[in-house]
Amino acid sequence: MKIIACYSNKGGVGKTATAVNLAHALAARGQRVLLCDLDPQGASGFYFRVKPSKKLKDARFFQDVARFTAAIRASDFDRLDILPANMSFRDFDVFLSRMKNRRSRLKQALASVGGDYDVIVLDCPPNISTLSENVFRAADAVLVPVIPTTLSERSFDQLLAFFRDHGLPRKKILALFSMAQGAKRLHGETMQRMRAAQGKRFLDVVLPFSTEIEKMGQHRAPVATFARSRALAEAYDRLAQEVLARL
Ligand SMILES: Nc1ncnc2c1ncn2[C@@H]1O[C@H](COP(=O)(O)OP(=O)(O)O)[C@@H](O)[C@H]1O
Ligand SMILES: [Mg+2]
Repeated sequence: MKIIACYSNKGGVGKTATAVNLAHALAARGQRVLLCDLDPQGASGFYFRVKPSKKLKDARFFQDVARFTAAIRASDFDRLDILPANMSFRDFDVFLSRMKNRRSRLKQALASVGGDYDVIVLDCPPNISTLSENVFRAADAVLVPVIPTTLSERSFDQLLAFFRDHGLPRKKILALFSMAQGAKRLHGETMQRMRAAQGKRFLDVVLPFSTEIEKMGQHRAPVATFARSRALAEAYDRLAQEVLARL
């Protein structure tokens, strides 16, 4: 079992869109996938039409395997299950900080269901906290969507610095250009510069800006299931292939 965390210290960069469509693409490729929605806003659960579970509302959640597995829901797609978020994830940091081994608690909980899945995808909230340290320790790959603009470049450098300062393995970080607009000179130049600076850290596939992604909210389904053009479905499938090859 491998764990892929869709993470960024910045909001609105495409973490949820990536988590949802990557999870769907991996399952379509035959992988058994669990998508865990760790963002209290619950967007990835919403996209899969899965309601939050009331059972998650207390601190025993990560200690009690039965509680954790009882909260997992089937999706409408073969081989793809969802652990929906709950507003109590807001309190995650509070109770994680009260636990022993608090920085590896998430890793232990995920290992307990690991036998049932080939890949676990985590949709993360955009902050650096005890929860994110848990995420960095649990994950085999930290997949970071980066919009090719100057501000995103700064946030990405801050994330690399955080990993360095906390002795976390930077080789876990896989970066991915998201919402790229080919016609914009700034986007093209930023992608070139960042690729040159970061070497192999960036994946080859680039996720294009597309209004089809916005429509996921209306369809409440992964983009590959309804988009007229195959371009996005193919991009997420290439992403799935590249991520699997890197793990
Ligand atoms: N490739 C894309 N093209 C166009 N819009 C996108 C794309 N990816 C995400 N979006 C839109 O941008 C907003 C933020 O995306 P989301 O995945 O929710 O980001 P995050 O989880 O990082 O906050 C959403 O409204 C989403 O529909
Ligand atoms: Mg999100």
